[in-house]
Amino acid sequence: MKGPTNITWHNPTVTKADRARKQGYRPCILWLTGLPSSGKSTLAHELEARLFAKGCHTYVLDGDNIRHGLNKDLGFSPEDRSENIRRVGEVAKLMVDAGLVVITAFISPYIADRQMVRNLVSDGEFIEVYVKCSLEECKRRDPKGLYAKAQKGEITGFTGISAPYEKPVNPEIMIDTEKSSLDECVQQVINYLSESKLAKLED
Ligand code: ADX
Repeated sequence: MKGPTNITWHNPTVTKADRARKQGYRPCILWLTGLPSSGKSTLAHELEARLFAKGCHTYVLDGDNIRHGLNKDLGFSPEDRSENIRRVGEVAKLMVDAGLVVITAFISPYIADRQMVRNLVSDGEFIEVYVKCSLEECKRRDPKGLYAKAQKGEITGFTGISAPYEKPVNPEIMIDTEKSSLDECVQQVINYLSESKLAKLED
């Protein structure tokens, strides 16, 4: 890809630090990663509701939705998935700059792509949340019927069946959606944010 030419960075007058100070908490990206049907979107929206109610300015970026607009030109080849994650990472970075707690729900199957997003933001701003669920349980849930289609060969390169998923090695948070209730999963993330003093989240 061509790098920028004849383009000069313009430093803003109001800075990221100014905006964060006004919010009263540290903006960050909660990066949810996991197999299809592991519970990423459900957790993302419930988490947003809880954080929003506690006074955080939040936004959810969700794979299926973003692929209807910004990323509708992308498919599911390894290259397209990387570009999907790169664009979402850049958008999430802008949102952190704007002072938001961003919650992303993408399979993001490659370790290198997730690391690339981590490298886009400052230390502590990228919080990797591994939404863990066994492949057997994901296949059983299959709310969109996509595992069934993939097993019949009607979808090629489907994550978990015919395309890889690289588990996080050292995620900040691991959520087991098979063993814990939705409420417990949300609470686990809230506890992490409180303990790491990222957000003022007292009730
Ligand atoms: S990612 O791999 O590039 O991170 P993303 O999270 O944006 O994927 O999109 C995943 C969603 O696309 C799934 O929830 C599913 O509904 C749909 N989908 C369609 N085809 C595939 C496929 N081959 N592999 C995985 N998900 C697919």
